[in-house]
Amino acid sequence: MAKTRVARIAENLYLLRLDDTETMFFEALWEIPEGVTYNAYLLDTGEGLALLDGWKRGYEGQFLDTLRSVAEPRDVKWVIVHHVEPDHTGTLPSILGEAGNPQVLCHPMAVGLLEALYNVRLNVRVLKDGERVSLGGEELEVLYTPWLHWPETIMTYHKRLGVLFSGDAFGSYSIPEGVSDGDVDVEELLGFSRKYLATVVGRYRQHIVKAVEKLSSRGVEPKTIAPLHGVVWRVNPGLIIERFLSWARAEPAEGKVLAVYGSMYGAVERAVGIVLERLEELGASTVVYRFTDRERPPISNVIGDALDASAIVVGAATYESEVFPLIRYVVEEVARKAAAKKPVLIVSSYGWGGAAGRKLEEILGKAGFEVSVVEFKGSPAPVEDRLREAAETLAASIRLP
Ligand code: FEO
Repeated sequence: MAKTRVARIAENLYLLRLDDTETMFFEALWEIPEGVTYNAYLLDTGEGLALLDGWKRGYEGQFLDTLRSVAEPRDVKWVIVHHVEPDHTGTLPSILGEAGNPQVLCHPMAVGLLEALYNVRLNVRVLKDGERVSLGGEELEVLYTPWLHWPETIMTYHKRLGVLFSGDAFGSYSIPEGVSDGDVDVEELLGFSRKYLATVVGRYRQHIVKAVEKLSSRGVEPKTIAPLHGVVWRVNPGLIIERFLSWARAEPAEGKVLAVYGSMYGAVERAVGIVLERLEELGASTVVYRFTDRERPPISNVIGDALDASAIVVGAATYESEVFPLIRYVVEEVARKAAAKKPVLIVSSYGWGGAAGRKLEEILGKAGFEVSVVEFKGSPAPVEDRLREAAETLAASIRLP
């Protein structure tokens, strides 16, 4: 049974958290051995309860029990939906039944999809961008933040408490020991935040920049950031905003080189090894993912590490006149989620005719990467000098410590 937590994060505000260790693949795609949390919030307005979001479908019973540990579900007068994705609205039908048709407040685009997903008729109030919504004695300011991570996404800001309910933005994978950034190893958590951003919001990264600019232009300077996944940021909320901005811009971490390769019988592995050895001699820090007959790392981790890499080394053989399939998939996802103007070196082997080098160059070039290729037949022995030179050229194009 999944663990649940309740924490009071302000005088009249509670976090209701589910620690999901059962989902192995977030969105049925992304490997998350570290798990994920779903965060809902409960605001006691003095004139009724406002429930902010919910949990994934399948946890309705635990959700209502957790809510009951703080308040009576029938006292929920308002439900605010910041984001329709079912990891946060799966429990909505259960609260609608328990609370007796509370008012559902959301973006206008959310209404049709919520009703279609859950086959319900909502007692709905649509929210306008910039609107200040009074809920009993409390007030929330609405900010439309499209594409974080769907088009109907909003944030709300409780100015008196200084709490920004940020939706998916500023969230993280993993199941943190504590509920706030003050209770965890922040550097470790940030790795899970970067991975979350890359896999879930990576395609729409420019909207993070727009949202942060919007927060600033509206004078929103939160003392606490309350996202839908991960910790509540109340010790250093500026840090997660700063990091999200940096990752959204795919800013390179000094000297970080990501290497990802597939190697069936060792030729690509030897070639990539020569490149990495030279890069490390020149001061680069390498992060390496190997797809071999013994290893298959989480693809989600590769995408997370691609976002702040200074350069990328890709190794893949030609396979059935195509790119070695696992690496093709990884590279296509990197091109979608972590596209940037960064150097990429492709190292590719073939038996009968080379195709992988050209095809990878096309995929990555279209995404804006600056691509060079070293391709060879069979063993890399005849091209060892070329591989070292290619590593030196790559190193010369990035900032090293
Ligand atoms: Fe956590 Fe886009 O839902």
